[in-house]
Amino acid sequence: VVMPMIGKAQFSYDLQGHRGARGLMPENTIPAMIKALDLGVTTLELDLAVTKDGEIIVSHEPYMNPLICLTPEGEEISEGDKSHNIYQMTFVEMKQYDAGSKFHSGFPLQVKFHVTKPKLKDLFEVVEKYVTDHDLPLPNYNIEIKSSPNGDGTYHPVPEEFSDMVYELIDSNMTWDRVNIQSFDFRVLKYIHQKYPNVTLAMLVTDPTKFQSQLDELGFQPKIYSPYFVALTKEAVGELHQKGMKIVPWTVNTTEQMQDLLDMGVDGIITDFPNLAPKQ
Ligand code: G3P
Ligand code: CA
Repeated sequence: VVMPMIGKAQFSYDLQGHRGARGLMPENTIPAMIKALDLGVTTLELDLAVTKDGEIIVSHEPYMNPLICLTPEGEEISEGDKSHNIYQMTFVEMKQYDAGSKFHSGFPLQVKFHVTKPKLKDLFEVVEKYVTDHDLPLPNYNIEIKSSPNGDGTYHPVPEEFSDMVYELIDSNMTWDRVNIQSFDFRVLKYIHQKYPNVTLAMLVTDPTKFQSQLDELGFQPKIYSPYFVALTKEAVGELHQKGMKIVPWTVNTTEQMQDLLDMGVDGIITDFPNLAPKQ
């Protein structure tokens, strides 16, 4: 049992629990979010998918990932099989799948138990009640719209529809000062920037050495630049800061790597292991 520091932030930077606390609990589930909160994260990072009947759920893949999920019959799904498509099943059908019992070789410390993918709406409700009941600080939410041209209309709605749906759900269930939307899909970022200019956006990229051409391609400057951490340099952090952006790299899973990035001046860290984050 982790004893949280009641009502007091433990971290001077934005510590983000990736998919909740994926290193320790089944990813993108409510128990993973609760675990991250117990470990003192300031932000919950999560990914979205959509069911056939229009429910916005929390899932990294828009299908039942064979690495993680078991069928309604409790059977394994073959490697590479993407046919258990969440966008082609109803929410009730989706809830038959177990997203927590299967051993994950990439994260052997994950506690294993039966759990299903939640609606974003329910996740908000449970998390908000939990922090209130436990006198914890209110978390922020870093919410990823997972779309790509390959999946348009098959694995998820087209980006405009997906973005509108997510906007409406958040607008009705959370306050925007505690939310940012992130995406690798520049179509999503451009659309939201134009239609909902007050929403805080984070651009996800894999190569931070190319930040200038990425910003040129996007055509505007988002509040947050969120790169894969490996090629990030102190110089790039300095230049991005000069432009007025925050830098929040992902997915950083050792204390040493997190410390190196904090020493470069990043504003936040996204990690599967918030338990390993430097206390500062
Ligand atoms: O938020 C950054 C990170 O989550 C992006 O990678 O694939 O884990 O969603 P991914
Ligand atoms: Ca993500």
